[in-house]
Amino acid sequence: MVRTVNDAIKMDGRTFHLERLGAHQWNQVIPKEVFPIVMVCDTNTRVHSLPLVIEKLEIEKHLIFEIPEGEHSKSLEQCQKFWEFAAENNLGRQGLIIAIGGGVVLDFAGFCASVWKRGIAYISIPTSIMAQADAAIGAKTGVNFHQYKNMLGSFYPPLFVITHFDFLKTLPSRHIKNGKVEIIKHLLLQDENPWQGIEKLQKDFDFETWNEVILNSIKFKSSITLEDPFDQGKRKILNLGHTMGHALESLAFEKEQDLLHGEAVAMGIWIESWLGKELLGYSSAHFDQLYTSLSPYFPDPFNFDIQWSEIHKYLLADKKNSNEKVQFALLEKPGHPIWNVELDVNQLEIYFTDRKIKSIFTP
Ligand SMILES: NC(=O)c1ccc[n+]([C@@H]2O[C@H](COP(=O)([O-])OP(=O)(O)OC[C@H]3O[C@@H](n4cnc5c(N)ncnc54)[C@H](O)[C@@H]3O)[C@@H](O)[C@H]2O)c1
Ligand SMILES: [Zn+2]
Repeated sequence: MVRTVNDAIKMDGRTFHLERLGAHQWNQVIPKEVFPIVMVCDTNTRVHSLPLVIEKLEIEKHLIFEIPEGEHSKSLEQCQKFWEFAAENNLGRQGLIIAIGGGVVLDFAGFCASVWKRGIAYISIPTSIMAQADAAIGAKTGVNFHQYKNMLGSFYPPLFVITHFDFLKTLPSRHIKNGKVEIIKHLLLQDENPWQGIEKLQKDFDFETWNEVILNSIKFKSSITLEDPFDQGKRKILNLGHTMGHALESLAFEKEQDLLHGEAVAMGIWIESWLGKELLGYSSAHFDQLYTSLSPYFPDPFNFDIQWSEIHKYLLADKKNSNEKVQFALLEKPGHPIWNVELDVNQLEIYFTDRKIKSIFTP
């Protein structure tokens, strides 16, 4: 029986269960006689999160591999540095990687682990809301390739995920907002009346709220990804807001604009809800309600030019798409997602007749 997430989620291949471990029992997740243990963190989590992990895991000997904070670290160059470090330190199948950080560290370390010696064990310790509610669940790892997001990756579950509220105490407010967007997405996908829950999220993120919403997100995402671990069917509903969101994110990446994943997805969910309205009867009232609910999470300021032609390039580069067709997961209404909605990229523009959406794109 699951009562709290303050502990560990055991990932055993495709199965998972939450295991209640007291804080003093974290070290139970470390397999016996592992050597060496490599802590992978970024410049921020090394300072803010690593000390808590070392204290709770009671690990005496470990190595540290640090990456610069930020999306640019999800790169092959950084992977190469890690693998060189792994070779120098004889990291083999007896070894263990412990990833401590947000989605960047988890995606990066998981990918490095999945490829090194055809896969060595790792544990994920998510320290951002984005990572706790989303990136740590579902076994996707990956790095970016050129300006394309998550173009290289694998499905590779960690042995355990350890999720703890205390990590969030040092998370900057912009990243707190950023992570809440994925929780909102989960509410929109599963709940016919998500508005109260969404409103509650805008308030302070205290332990009680965290315990409720993170647990809900973990259970929801886990149930979907267990049903469809390799993204062949139902898991695609999790792409709500992400087809457009990823295109915006890739464009921002190319233009060296500061845009976080959650900020891009907030815009993506709202923009795509217009498609839901045009194609699936998503109601105007809910479209307006979504704007009210999501606009606080939009990038501030949002001031880079977006040309349709640039967006096309990235929409087509999306892993889900082929032959000038773009696939979306859209809402018929809250709690009722439809996946595999396919649209011709050249036709897409004609759907966007809404004034506010049009103003985002320069024709
Ligand atoms: N694999 C998946 O299923 C999946 C799902 C969602 C997102 N992602 C990926 O996750 C990434 C975004 O994750 P993110 O928003 O966590 O970004 P992030 O990892 O860059 O973390 C955000 C910032 O917060 C800092 N930080 C993290 N934890 C901290 C803490 N406890 N205290 C202080 N600072 C802390 C980081 O150093 C960074 O500066 C993207 O690359 C996205 O593609 C992957
Ligand atoms: Zn996402």
